[in-house]
Amino acid sequence: MKHSSVALLILVIAAVAYTDIPLTSDACINCHRLLDEELEPGEQILKNVFKDIHLQVGLSCADCHGGNPDAYDDEDEAMWDDPTFRGEIARMDQPEMCGSCHSDPQYMRQYSATVKTDQIDQYWTSQHGISLRNGIDKVAICTDCHGVHGIYPVKDPRSQVYPLNVPSTCAQCHNDAQYMGEFNLPTDQFYLYRTSVHGKALLDRQSLSAPACNDCHGNHGALPPDVVHIADICGTCHVNNNRLFQKSHLKNIFLKRGFGQCEACHGNHGIKKPSDEYLNWEHGAVCVQCHKSAGNPKELADLFYHTIDSLKHQIILAKELVSQAEQKGMEISDLYFPLEESQKVLIQTRTSIHSFNKDLLLETVKDGFKATDEAIQGASAALIEFDQRRKWLFIFSLIITFLIVVVYFKIKDFDRMQRNKNQ
Ligand code: HEC
Ligand code: HEC
Ligand code: HEC
Ligand code: HEC
Ligand code: HEC
Ligand code: HEC
Ligand code: HEC
Ligand code: HEC
Ligand code: HEC
Repeated sequence: MKHSSVALLILVIAAVAYTDIPLTSDACINCHRLLDEELEPGEQILKNVFKDIHLQVGLSCADCHGGNPDAYDDEDEAMWDDPTFRGEIARMDQPEMCGSCHSDPQYMRQYSATVKTDQIDQYWTSQHGISLRNGIDKVAICTDCHGVHGIYPVKDPRSQVYPLNVPSTCAQCHNDAQYMGEFNLPTDQFYLYRTSVHGKALLDRQSLSAPACNDCHGNHGALPPDVVHIADICGTCHVNNNRLFQKSHLKNIFLKRGFGQCEACHGNHGIKKPSDEYLNWEHGAVCVQCHKSAGNPKELADLFYHTIDSLKHQIILAKELVSQAEQKGMEISDLYFPLEESQKVLIQTRTSIHSFNKDLLLETVKDGFKATDEAIQGASAALIEFDQRRKWLFIFSLIITFLIVVVYFKIKDFDRMQRNKNQ
């Protein structure tokens, strides 16, 4: 045994007293827990390693680094003289190292029946993988996105790729103009995303149904979606908009011209909540960016805009009348249903514009007008009834007042007669 090893062994024993990391039968861990004591907290390896999924399922240092974990007190035997030992693992070599297990279905199935084993294949098709193969090692590799010595299952909120953490994981590089300088790519994706409907829903309201970067770019296949597939990606969540758009005549026109389908009108990273003004030709409808002059497109947009606008106004009117009737104490609870129905149809009508088909929109909106008519008529009838009741009440109170006055004078008369009789 070499002197340095003896010294280390003594250190091991001495350190048991003050390190809270347990001794194990794994030589790598036992020796490195001591080395950790010398390191700055940020550089310590064992601090998080026990929480790492790999150690949790019973793997250890040697499963990634090689070496001999049974060589207790000899670092040469454990590491430097062992031909399987991999010390520093170069960025270029990391995907294959991680993939040595993760692309082996037989091996991985011992641990989990459902785990996917396509990450490496996917990765090599991504711009990250393609560039790495070309020797550009600033691109994302497995450990940039998943971490190292602290890798968590992807469903664990501590994971760097847990949905709420994905945008900032990608932004480490994509938001850094200096780091990205040589690649001729914009670096505004995170900024735009952060203020979009999707970014606000995910990061402010923690709504996990809103997309993070990987929902549009793939987990491992990070490429910008091409124009043919953008609608499929948006359509995984916005099913009806996509179904209608795929059937519309605009779809093929857009594909032929190379417009990004949904993206052409809504954008990609900075998607905002659309309003009916998107169809208002006079106020810069989204159509105007491509259709400068009037004609069929303007006619269609106008029809959409005015139809939606009039349904909106009918709904406002219906709500106002129903609430007046309610305040006057009339029984109008059967009018809540048509009110709700009309609101639902308004939303469906906005979606139906994606057919770019006038007939379909008019068919959809019909039920909305039917429902508002029902509510308006019901509430008006209640208000008329209320007025009538009030009118009769007024007449009755007039009659009663008259009767009281008559009775009053009668009594007075009677009193006088009595007094006259007595005198
Ligand atoms: C008896 C103590 C001891 C044992 C056992 C030991 N190591 Fe080390 N290890 C060291 C020392 C000392 C260094 C050098 C640290 C330095 O100089 O930064 C080191 C460095 C490393 C490095 C970094 C290599 C590099 O090139 O920078 C890795 C990775 C590593 N060890 C992994 C392992 C693994 C895996 C095992 C078990 C198979 C193991 N070690 C067993 C003491 C040990
Ligand atoms: C899941 C695989 C994996 C496991 C398990 C793992 N490592 Fe590593 N380790 C890596 C990778 C990858 C790197 C290279 C990180 C880098 O530089 O980007 C690395 C780097 C290192 C380094 C070099 C110093 C540094 O941080 O740059 C040391 C030392 C080390 N590991 C020790 C250990 C020890 C000790 C264990 C067991 C407690 C261990 N590793 C477990 C994958 C692993
Ligand atoms: C650009 C970032 C990024 C890179 C690079 C990356 N991953 Fe992932 N990885 C993710 C995201 C995001 C998820 C999915 C999270 C989710 O499902 O919510 C994921 C999921 C996983 C999973 C869980 C199973 C699955 O496929 O959903 C494994 C295992 C995995 N990655 C391994 C790897 C390996 C191995 C590499 C390197 C070849 C790698 N990853 C490279 C971002 C990345
Ligand atoms: C020695 C084989 C092996 C190596 C090498 C390896 N892994 Fe794993 N990895 C596993 C096993 C086994 C699991 C646990 C599978 C499970 O339970 O889902 C796992 C789990 C994971 C998970 C969590 C998957 C999930 O269910 O969410 C991620 C992420 C991951 N590994 C990434 C990596 C990365 C990144 C590297 C390279 C730095 C790497 N792995 C190297 C075997 C390995
Ligand atoms: C370690 C830094 C780093 C991280 C982390 C990273 N990327 Fe990248 N990414 C790059 C670099 C560098 C390029 C440029 C590669 C090139 O063009 O050669 C790139 C390219 C891309 C491209 C291709 C762009 C194009 O038009 O060519 C997409 C898409 C992408 N990344 C998405 C993501 C997503 C999504 C994430 C997070 C899940 C992510 N990246 C995380 C560094 C990173
Ligand atoms: C709602 C879907 C969606 C989300 C979420 C999304 N992207 Fe994109 N991204 C796209 C589309 C579509 C393109 C294609 C742009 C084009 O080619 O016109 C794109 C393009 C890119 C590019 C290529 C350069 C560029 O800006 O055109 C990068 C890099 C990128 N995205 C990174 C990210 C990052 C990082 C995030 C998270 C902060 C993210 N994306 C979130 C849909 C999305
Ligand atoms: C992973 C699912 C998912 C994907 C993929 C997705 N979205 Fe969304 N989107 C949502 C959710 C959820 C909301 C609602 C956010 C909220 O609660 O405010 C939303 C909101 C919107 C809105 C605002 C709707 C409104 O009435 O407020 C628009 C417009 C939109 N998305 C367009 C797109 C486009 C275009 C794409 C593709 C480039 C896309 N989305 C991809 C889930 C998704
Ligand atoms: C030609 C322009 C155009 C295209 C292409 C387009 N949209 Fe729209 N989208 C609009 C307009 C205009 C509105 C606003 C309607 C309103 O509020 O009156 C809208 C509204 C929306 C809304 C909010 C209303 C609702 O349905 O909930 C979503 C979500 C949406 N679009 C998703 C998509 C998706 C997904 C695609 C691709 C399949 C797409 N859009 C393609 C113009 C377009
Ligand atoms: C990204 C560009 C783009 C946007 C945005 C766009 N269109 Fe178009 N649209 C075209 C192109 C290109 C054609 C086919 C050439 C033509 O007839 O001008 C077309 C054709 C049409 C046609 C058929 C024209 C005809 O004469 O029969 C209608 C209708 C139409 N668009 C309506 C709309 C409406 C409504 C909007 C806004 C909600 C809209 N478009 C937004 C590019 C666009």
